[in-house]
Amino acid sequence: MSTSAESAAAPLRVAVLLSGRGSNLGALIAAAREDRSYRLVGAFADKPEAPGLALARAAGIPTQVCVPKDYVDKAAFEAALFAAVAASGADLVVLAGFMRVLGAESVEAWRGRMINIHPSLLPKHQGLHTHARALAAGDAEHGASVHFVTPVLDDGPVLMQVRIPVLPDDTAESLAARLLPQEHRLLVAAVRLIAQGRVRLQGEQILVDGEALRAPM
Ligand code: GRF
Repeated sequence: MSTSAESAAAPLRVAVLLSGRGSNLGALIAAAREDRSYRLVGAFADKPEAPGLALARAAGIPTQVCVPKDYVDKAAFEAALFAAVAASGADLVVLAGFMRVLGAESVEAWRGRMINIHPSLLPKHQGLHTHARALAAGDAEHGASVHFVTPVLDDGPVLMQVRIPVLPDDTAESLAARLLPQEHRLLVAAVRLIAQGRVRLQGEQILVDGEALRAPM
């Protein structure tokens, strides 16, 4: 006889990679308190001083730091980093403010199992300084995207987006501040959907509930 706890699907094991503040990790930690569909198995940083590491430690999540200068080259750094990620038992890798462009080998090894949160309405404004660039472009709307990671920076298939209006007196700072809580909701929603087993990447195509996703959710 099985109890309901035994028959429930095992939680998705999620590893988070970050370089800084870690507010997106904080949102995942907070949501995981009420949501058993996923579990944070590790927080990994390329900078020992990344404030996000303290958030993980306070929540009892194992942390690991891999600093690129400690390795002979980028490939060796990434090999060590992703060996640690794999050792955590992660099913899904979330890049949440991880400020490095990953090599094709790491990306291919985790294809369909690695997502990134980017603060723009992709394909608009790939790369850095997205809030200032949205303003400079005169965009009426700004937002954030969660996408699967492919070898080209900020270019993989987009699963979900959130949109906010650009207000007449917005600055890059005010836009970033208004967007951040929406980013947090977006990332949690995306991880939950994946944890529910509803999302799959087939080539460059995202399937949700077995159906091709034609536009970001
Ligand atoms: C977020 O704006 C995220 O979209 C971008 O980097 C920032 C990370 O913020 N990729 P935090 O470290 O999660 O607070």
